Amino acid sequence: VNFKCFGGVNLIKWKDDFLVGVESIDEQHKVLFDLTGKAYDLLKDDYVHDKYDEIVKIIDELKEYTIFHFRSEEEYMKSIGYKKFLSHKVEHDDFIERVNSLNFLEIDEDQDKYILSILDFVVSWISDHILQRDKLINP
Ligand SMILES: [Fe+2]
Repeated sequence: VNFKCFGGVNLIKWKDDFLVGVESIDEQHKVLFDLTGKAYDLLKDDYVHDKYDEIVKIIDELKEYTIFHFRSEEEYMKSIGYKKFLSHKVEHDDFIERVNSLNFLEIDEDQDKYILSILDFVVSWISDHILQRDKLINP
């Protein structure tokens, strides 16, 4: 996975523009932003002891929750007979594959930069995906 360089910019935060209009999907999207925000805040906090263990735990949780959320969103798309279901699912599967290929051993080398690049990648992907794909589910 190739992560783009991260210049210490703040992560994208949840905003109402991300609302799709399907309550369960919107609630789950908010959880994804909560988790990335939590990891980001920890990373920025210089006073927390052993914060990397905690951050890796949150990122693992984020992986699990993303998989749960995608499956749930896919069930919803099927339930309404959504026509672009397959191409949408391909994007989900591709993202999961990329997230699963993250190697946490690399975290030891330049921890902050690596974690930041992961969080930036995840948040950017999710934001783009919500705006460009998820919004089409409920136009
Ligand atoms: Fe989606």
